[in-house]
Amino acid sequence: MLNLEFKGRDIVSIEDFSREEINYILNISRSMEPLASKGSDMLKGKILATLFFEPSTRTRLSFETAMLKLGGAVIGFAEAEVASVRKGENLADTIRTVENYADVIALRHPLDGAAKLAAEFSKVPILNAGSGSEEHPTQALMDLYTMQKEKGKIDGLKIALVGDLRYGRTVHSLAYALSLYDIKLYLISPESLKMRKEVIHAVENKISVVEGTDLEEVIPQIDVLYVTRIQKERFPDAAEYAKVKGTYKIDLKLLKNAKKDLIILHPLPRLDEIAAEVDATPQARYFQQVWNGIVVRMALLALVLGAVK
Ligand code: NCD
Repeated sequence: MLNLEFKGRDIVSIEDFSREEINYILNISRSMEPLASKGSDMLKGKILATLFFEPSTRTRLSFETAMLKLGGAVIGFAEAEVASVRKGENLADTIRTVENYADVIALRHPLDGAAKLAAEFSKVPILNAGSGSEEHPTQALMDLYTMQKEKGKIDGLKIALVGDLRYGRTVHSLAYALSLYDIKLYLISPESLKMRKEVIHAVENKISVVEGTDLEEVIPQIDVLYVTRIQKERFPDAAEYAKVKGTYKIDLKLLKNAKKDLIILHPLPRLDEIAAEVDATPQARYFQQVWNGIVVRMALLALVLGAVK
């Protein structure tokens, strides 16, 4: 029996969701497009708390925008430095406090497992807005939504994830999610930043996976190029970062051999892995992806707060 009950649910790992549930979230996201343009009072009286223990521009503002567009209100902090965490408060106590103020909490934290821990303590739904280098499930949902919107489908696509597949959390959640579809996955990274073993194990029996280091070789075959930043702040050793910095550069020369209808996505922020000259190409879709993040987060807020069924 399909469990399509979302009210009160945490969104901690994308692995907790079936293909049917993900498709349902994508459908609700589509229905949010007009509300994102004209606004709604669907969540009037509800409060979202955004607790961000790590830097963010898009994810926090996107959650807040989504809540405001649905008529709800927002509280929270973006700098843990100024919150009581600085005084030594532990995460469980912060959550048990904030659940009194808010109906739903979006949490970003530098530690793997933080969102899971928060969900164990919280009475209100926890939306994982990035847990260490582990997962970023709402980003994966907006990535899927973007692929479906741009390509009309997800099944049948050939998709390359490129860059830091070891420390990048978006690619972990995205690989789990894509393994529920009939796709071919290329994992392109420097040798030292290969996709985490546990992710490979979870996906390789479900879909065809090709690992490699050479992007030029795969570029003519793919429909979606998902580029990521090398996650400097997560390297234990600065010398290791220096070795891999700037490994991949997406530029017009590389794209000469790409399919005309290739789409290029990036969770952003970008450093130098996509040249500015690519921004004007029809393939560049990373800024459209930002808009899609709003409608997907509107859908998630409405679902976990029980405003849509
Ligand atoms: C990503 C993140 O925080 O993991 N950013 C985002 O949420 N869009 C990617 C990154 O920081 O490189």
